[in-house]
Order: sequence, then C-alpha cells, then structure tokens
Amino acid sequence: MENIIAIVMAAGKGTRMKTNKSKVVHKIYGKELIARVVETVQKSGINDIIAVVGHKRDDVQNVLGDSVKYAYQEELLGTGHTAMQAIPYLKGKKGKVVVLYGDVPLVRPETIKKLIAKSIAEKESATILTALYNNPTGYGRVVRDASGNVKAIVEEKDATDEEKAITEINGGIYCFDIEELILALEKITRNNAQGEYYLTDVIKIMNEKGLKTGAIIVEDNTEILGVNDRAQLEMLTRILRIRINQAHLENGVTIEDINNTYIYDDVEIGMDTVIHPNTTIKSGVKIGENCEIGPNAYIREGCELANNVKIGSFVEIKKAKIGEGTKVPHLSYMGDCEIGSKTNIGCGTITCNYDGFKKSKTIIGNNAFIGSNVNFIAPVTIGDNVLVAAGSTITDDVPKDSLSIARQRQINKEGWNKK
Ligand code: UD1
Ligand code: MG
Repeated sequence: MENIIAIVMAAGKGTRMKTNKSKVVHKIYGKELIARVVETVQKSGINDIIAVVGHKRDDVQNVLGDSVKYAYQEELLGTGHTAMQAIPYLKGKKGKVVVLYGDVPLVRPETIKKLIAKSIAEKESATILTALYNNPTGYGRVVRDASGNVKAIVEEKDATDEEKAITEINGGIYCFDIEELILALEKITRNNAQGEYYLTDVIKIMNEKGLKTGAIIVEDNTEILGVNDRAQLEMLTRILRIRINQAHLENGVTIEDINNTYIYDDVEIGMDTVIHPNTTIKSGVKIGENCEIGPNAYIREGCELANNVKIGSFVEIKKAKIGEGTKVPHLSYMGDCEIGSKTNIGCGTITCNYDGFKKSKTIIGNNAFIGSNVNFIAPVTIGDNVLVAAGSTITDDVPKDSLSIARQRQINKEGWNKK
C-alpha cells in the first residue's frame, strides 16, 4: 500500500523569540503554531504524522498529545539531521513523505495537496515548494538547468555570486518519495559552510542518481513565512486576520474595518451581517444573517446567534444561544444562557453564572423585556413575554406574562438634607 506520511520539524531552539517555552507552542489566534501546522497537514488528508521534537519537547507533546508520533533530535545538526530522526518510522514503507516546519503556520492544505499530486503525477522523487522573492537573502536558492528542471538547492552561505542572484527560493516544504529520501539522507554530509546536515542536499543527490526532482512556485508567498521572533508572530497574526476577514467579506459579510476585527478560525457568519470595529469573535461561533455586532463586542466560544440579532457595544457573550431578532445593545455580560426571539436585554444586564464553584444557566423566553441593570442569579428561568423591572436582581424563576420587580422601594426623605 502507498503511504502518505508527514514529518513536522519542531526541535529548534527559537532563540530570537526570547521565551521560556518552545517557540512552536506560541499561539496565533488562540492556536499554537505547531497545532496549526498539524491541523493543516490533517486537512490535506494525511493522518500519519511524525513530529521531530528536541528543545522543550514536553511543551510540544503537551499540545499535540497522541495526534502524532514523536521522534527525538538530541543535537541540532541541521534540517537533514532532523529528517534522519524520523527514518525509523519510514523504513520499509513505500509512498510519499511531506516535510514541513512547525514554525511555518500559514501554509494551506490545498498547497500541500498540490505538492503531493504533482510529485505523484510527474513521478518526482522530490517536489519542493518554492517562491519568487525580490530579496532572496538568507534563503536557499533553487538551481535549475537550461530547460528549467530543478537540479539543486544551494544555501546562502554556500552560494556563489551567480547563485546568490537567483530569486527563486526554497520555501522549506517538500514532498519526497519515501524510499529515495532514506537513501539520499544516508549520503548527505556536514561538509558545508555551516557544518550542518542539509536536508536540501538530497535534491542534488537524487539528481545525480538520475531521479526526477521538481518544484511548485507558491502563489501566495505568505504561506511559507516562518515565526522566528515576536515581530514575525505579530506579522503572521495580521496576515491571518486579513485572510480570515477577507473570506467573510467574500461571503457577504460587511466588516467596517478589516484591520481591527478579530475573527478566529472556523466562525460562520451569515449574509448581510455587519461587524463594527474592535469586535472579537472566537473559534466556532455561529452568527446568522442580517445581524449587527459591535463596536467593541466580545463574542466568546460556544455562541450561536440566529438571524437579525444585535449585539452592541461593550457586550461580552459566552455560550449564549440567542434567538431571532433579539437585542443585547450595550454593556452586558451574557454567559451560559439561552435567550428566545424578539427579546430585548437592557443596558448593563448581567448573568451571574458562576458561584465560585460551578457555572449555571440563565434561560430567557421570547418577547421578554429586560430592563437596564438587571442581574440574573443563575440558575434561573424567565418565561415568554415577561417584563423585568430595571435594577432587579432576579433569584427566582419568573412565569410567563409576568412583571417582575426585585429591588427595594425608593424612599425620599423630604427636607432631610437641609437639617
Ligand atoms: C532552511 C533551508 C533553506 C530554506 C529555508 C526556508 C536547509 C538546509 N535550508 O534554511 O533552503 O530556504 O529553510 O525557511 O534546510 N530545525 C530543527 N532541527 C535542526 C535544524 C532546524 O528542528 O537541527 C527546524 C528549525 O526549528 C526550523 C526549521 O527546522 O523550524 C528550519 O531551520 P532553519 O535553521 O531556520 O533553516 P534555514 O537555515 O532558515
Ligand atoms: Mg539554519
């Protein structure tokens, strides 16, 4: 049977990150770099994944758990050496192995699929993902022959002036024939400017053996960007932000300020919904059509909003199921709750969902009118068509069609202030 396996390199030190953790467990939009890479690999259809870990390996293993197999690189002797550590898992297998970095989180599943498809279709022993850079400094250069075939990758530090002028760079993502990779890795040496085992040397070795090697030039250069320091972490977060927001725009969502709207992965938003600035929407949230969100709204995990819902400014909601046409216009915290349709939640309303030990639910029916500054001490259920007076602290269920007032009467002591 033909296998498709992936090796994710995650042994590096991440010195420039200045961190006490493994570099690859730093997060972009709530998800570790390494988890993003592994998820992308899985989405491309590969489930047999080997993570090569080393420095702070426990951090990586805590994140990935048993979703991958682990190989250990004790000494960091270069990317070829990293790949060698995975050989015990590759030995005796036929098929393809994709190699990629744990700190290059924005590669798309489609790109990995294309790489595999080309290497199978064109019977290439190595297919590399390359990019065209105006300033290729620092990267390995892709050397092609007169007819355009990929012949070798030359690292910057080993390159001649002529090679340095090449603007096609090695992106660091590869698809290899498993058996040929093992054979080629046996031949690489540390005989180069950095004294490292270069994974990139296998291209030349394969060519000298008469094998076919090829490349795909990546369409979107951001896919091969890596995270080496905090500035790059911020830059890649920004790139992902724009990528996600753009996809929502294409789906018919209005986003007033694409740079200041923070929509995490796997959020669904219906057509004609408007998102005002400084809104954060966490992973997995579902928002219906024609809703209005923000400015300054925080839609946390587990929220589901029907159509025509309004979530206004300085509103935080968590695990909230909100029915059609319901409004939470300002300054509220609604957590662990179900709210029916066409209900109005007054300014400053709060679900007191946590008693210090456990979380409890607030359920509010349809067509309810909740006055300003109401506290719901959960668990509590409010029926349909209820009016809760402003300033109430609701501790008991309210039956449908009722008016509920839970506050002390006002006393005016006339003339008191003159005495
Ligand atoms: C490598 C490529 C270069 C390519 C560039 C793309 C080689 C020899 N060169 O260069 O052609 O243009 O990537 O970004 O492969 N790592 C380990 N163990 C090691 C060494 C590295 O796990 O012993 C990991 C690092 O943590 C990092 C990745 O491999 O995630 C790349 O290593 P790095 O040394 O940064 O590669 P470059 O020198 O940039
Ligand atoms: Mg290096």
